[in-house]
Amino acid sequence: MPAPSNSYDVIILGAGAAGLMCAARAGQKGLRVAVLEKAEKPGKKILISGGGRCNFTNIHAGPGNYLSDNPHFAKSALARYSPQDFIDLVDRHGIAWHEKTLGQLFCDGSAKQIVQMLLDECPPDTVDVICDAEVSAVELVEGKYGVIASGKVYTAGKLVIATGGPSIPKMGASGFAYDLARQFGLKIVEPRPALVPLTLGGDDVLFRELSGVSAPVSASAGRGKAKARFDEAALFTHKGLSGPAILQISSYWRHGEEIGISFLPQADEEWLLSLKRDHPRATIRAVLREHLPARLADALSERIGLEREFGNVPDKDLRAAGRKLVDWRFSPNGTEGFAKAEVTIGGIATSELSSRTMEAKKAPGLYAIGEAVDVTGWLGGYNFQWAWASGVACAEAMAEQ
Ligand code: FDA
Repeated sequence: MPAPSNSYDVIILGAGAAGLMCAARAGQKGLRVAVLEKAEKPGKKILISGGGRCNFTNIHAGPGNYLSDNPHFAKSALARYSPQDFIDLVDRHGIAWHEKTLGQLFCDGSAKQIVQMLLDECPPDTVDVICDAEVSAVELVEGKYGVIASGKVYTAGKLVIATGGPSIPKMGASGFAYDLARQFGLKIVEPRPALVPLTLGGDDVLFRELSGVSAPVSASAGRGKAKARFDEAALFTHKGLSGPAILQISSYWRHGEEIGISFLPQADEEWLLSLKRDHPRATIRAVLREHLPARLADALSERIGLEREFGNVPDKDLRAAGRKLVDWRFSPNGTEGFAKAEVTIGGIATSELSSRTMEAKKAPGLYAIGEAVDVTGWLGGYNFQWAWASGVACAEAMAEQ
């Protein structure tokens, strides 16, 4: 490695949500910071997030909204930097926002305002945000990290991995964070696409005919402690299933497992029996059409196959149909992969990091924050809240040392 030319207290790899937040805090505390970003501009995922309006936090964000091999890991950072702290920051910058649904906060204007706010928070005398700087190699020489980025060399006593996860590779996302972590002996929890549409095969392939149909459902997946249920909309696609309920449960689903969907979240399996008593001339198709989009109602009633009036259907068949409607089992054959995944589940193992400082236990001066770490939030602003909180925890710790 050639002689160092650019010396800093801290080098942050990646000018995404976590990296920019960390840079701003560390710079405000007086640390000399370089943020190295391979793209031509910072915060590209922020810019496309939330349909261009950035769902920047969720007022309900707490440790229970995150998946990780160690569900306790995120507690410390999340407790020390809350959604309200970020709202206060947004307010100080005069950015108008609104709650859309389920505690999800969006800019009224544009996600560009969030990126600009983060850049404005970086003091110009202490923080250099350097774009078009793709990091290709890192070495530890005499207690200092040397980083080669687009042919230039940078050195610092502290190095922060904030290069995110491999979701959306066409935006340049990669597993770079994992390669670097492995180089320093840190374990990786197997990365998988999350918040991602599921694909259907086998008998379920017929449901693809419903492409474009959406309905409020209750979707469930996972086992034991990793079991989850979400009451939101599901959308049939030409490949399988999507929509918020499905994206949420995709994070809990594993290959080979089934998912359950209640098409009638308010009903129970006895529902059709009570209808038989009160409306013996009704049919399942007519009843489902009252509650669901017509194409979906027709497809479900055809698969259930009870086209007679309720009065002529034995109770046990109605009970079985009711059970199916409130827990329809699908066996997804996969996901649409990292190309369509909003986030990556897994990543740098939390067992390798201090939950207070984000520093690697085995590699003093090396830190990891944001999506690179095995902490993954639900859909709805939770992932940015983790990026902000882990970035702040890391910056505060670096400034104390
Ligand atoms: P992030 O990916 O933001 O930043 C990593 C940076 O590192 C990138 O700028 C990358 O270019 C850079 N980099 C990578 N390798 C490098 C290298 N070798 N050298 C130099 N730089 C390198 N979340 C949420 O809470 N609300 C929302 O509305 C949305 N919406 C949304 C939409 C879409 C389409 C996607 C794909 C994702 C979301 N998310 C989201 C998720 C959210 O964007 C994500 O969790 C955060 O951006 C993660 O922040 P990080 O800083 O960890 O990584």
